[in-house]
Parts: sequence; structure tokens; C-alpha cells
Amino acid sequence: MSERTLAIVKPDAVKKNAIGDIINRYEKAGLRPVAMRLMHMSKATAQGFYAVHKARPFFDSLCTFMSSGPCVVLVLQGDNAIKKNRELMGATDPAKAEQGTIRAAHGANIEFNAVHGSDAPETAKFEIGYFFAEMELVG
Ligand code: CMP
Repeated sequence: MSERTLAIVKPDAVKKNAIGDIINRYEKAGLRPVAMRLMHMSKATAQGFYAVHKARPFFDSLCTFMSSGPCVVLVLQGDNAIKKNRELMGATDPAKAEQGTIRAAHGANIEFNAVHGSDAPETAKFEIGYFFAEMELVG
């Protein structure tokens, strides 16, 4: 079933010049970008995006990190896009991510973990709508 998911190439991965490698992995796996933007989030934008985590001890640090430099936000479309992207990313903690995954290759630790991907259809809907208007999705 074709579906859409929101992905973010986080500021740590952009600083490491890993945008191309990460997007290449999406494309090779059959996940096609249907919207994409290079942006430097404000802290308030990061707080709104990660509002579900606002009670977590790492929330402030996470939002500082996500607004520390440019990132790439993109909508990926393909068969089972949500699950496929989570497999490509690997575990949240790069130390636990399987070899060959994006986080194993580019993540430094559980916070600076290179990429984000929606975890379920409802979150994908919220996250895509947070950054993109329907008319910006070109798939
Ligand atoms: P992400 O998949 O974007 O979703 C929430 C983010 O919070 C996660 O990736 C990490 O960047 C960060 N995160 C999750 N757990 C922790 C933690 N225990 N300590 C610090 N950051 C975390």
C-alpha cells in the first residue's frame, strides 16, 4: 500500500555533509521524495513539532539541537513508507541500530541521531501537515 511519511535529515547529518547519502538511501529503497525543504527551524517550530515529547527530560535539549542549524524536511512516498523508513533509519539510539542503517552510519548518540521518521499513520499525517501544505506535495 502506497503511503507517505515525514523524514528529517537533522542538523548533525547536514553538518556532516550526509544529505546526499541519506536521500540516496531513501531513493534506493523505493521511497520517493514528493516534497522537500532545506530549513533552519526556530526553537518554537521544533517545540511544536515535538510537542508529544514535551514532558520528557530531553525535550529542551532536543529542541535546541533541532534549531541549531539547517535541516532537510521531506515527505517520502512509497509502499509501506512508514515502516520501510523506520527500517532504513534503525533504532533511535545509534549504538543499538543495526549495521547498514542510517543511524548506525551517521548518528552519534541517542539525541544526535541523524534522522527522524514518522512512527505511525496518525503521526505521519500530523507531521506532514506541520511542514507542508497539500499543494506542495507533488507525487
Ligand atoms: P526522533 O526519532 O526524532 O524522535 C524524538 C527524538 O528525541 C529522537 O529522535 C532523539 O533525537 C531524541 N531522543 C529520544 N530519546 C532520547 C533520550 N533518551 N535522550 C535524548 N534525546 C532523545
